[in-house]
Amino acid sequence: MNTKSTRFNICFYGAGSMAEAIVRGLIERQIASPDQISMMNRTNAGRLQELTERYGVRTGNRPEDKEAFLREADIIVLAMKPKDAIDALQSASQLIDRQLIISVIAGLSISTMRKAIGQSVAIARTMPNTSSTIGLGATGISFSKAVNVEQKSSALSMFQAIGIVHEVDEAQLDMVTGVSGSGPAYVYYFMEQMIAAGIEGGLSEEAAKQLTVQTVVGAAQMVVHTGEEPAQLRRKVTSPNGTTQAALETLDQLHFPEAVRKAVKRAAERAGEMGQAISDSLDTGAKG
Ligand SMILES: NC(=O)c1ccc[n+]([C@@H]2O[C@H](COP(=O)([O-])OP(=O)(O)OC[C@H]3O[C@@H](n4cnc5c(N)ncnc54)[C@H](OP(=O)(O)O)[C@@H]3O)[C@@H](O)[C@H]2O)c1
Repeated sequence: MNTKSTRFNICFYGAGSMAEAIVRGLIERQIASPDQISMMNRTNAGRLQELTERYGVRTGNRPEDKEAFLREADIIVLAMKPKDAIDALQSASQLIDRQLIISVIAGLSISTMRKAIGQSVAIARTMPNTSSTIGLGATGISFSKAVNVEQKSSALSMFQAIGIVHEVDEAQLDMVTGVSGSGPAYVYYFMEQMIAAGIEGGLSEEAAKQLTVQTVVGAAQMVVHTGEEPAQLRRKVTSPNGTTQAALETLDQLHFPEAVRKAVKRAAERAGEMGQAISDSLDTGAKG
């Protein structure tokens, strides 16, 4: 894994859970030191105090802090909710020129960001997932043409610090959202049903939960450690006329494969719709 440290100053514009996950990874993996990192939010001073105590990073939310952090930054990580992104970009546009903007915001396209800033800047658009908070994230990333080699390498190192990262074309980021962005929730849903069935079948809640969790961890680790395809591992554990075959046939009768594929595609489609809504809100704002 590439854990190349960066010489860049990094400003987190938004100091919520995703920003904290990245900061934790950067510091633990020594990609950046606390004095290279600043974090800001809108109003929550208690949250900023907590982040300073926990990581030793600089924080602030007064206009002068914001201006200083953005001006001195080489990388600005946009980490607010999608509904707040356009305002945040427009209000900072005078302070953005040479910096690399890295967005973790679902649906916000590179062209919408460029329009909101009002000029062509270097932009990396990413789609991380919640497992990033424990260093096991899966991130898709794409870059605008203006991103240089050093900026690209720093951006990749940042997301490698919180899991794995795949560079994809921007058009594929919606499908990344469908697979890994929303993916943890599908797995949780599957686990919920396994636990419920175990309890209905007479297991204690604790036993049903522990057995399910370990099964999912173990199955994922089997794919990682053996390097075998999930389908190959599935066939290996399915004896003819055995219990697993009976379960898989039931899943097939209930159209499990189609349901999962449709769910992933629908999430991807929804990511596109959300991106369009953000872009429309910018156009409406510009006209109004
Ligand atoms: N959480 C995940 O696992 C995950 C996964 C993939 C993508 N994402 C993306 O990550 C983004 C952030 O998610 P999150 O869960 O970290 O959100 P969050 O916990 O709600 O944090 C949002 C942060 O943005 C700040 N903020 C909002 N508007 C601002 C402004 N104009 N200036 C400065 N700060 C501003 C908020 O400050 P105040 O609290 O002071 O208002 C808060 O610190 C979202 O767009 C989401 O799509 C998250």
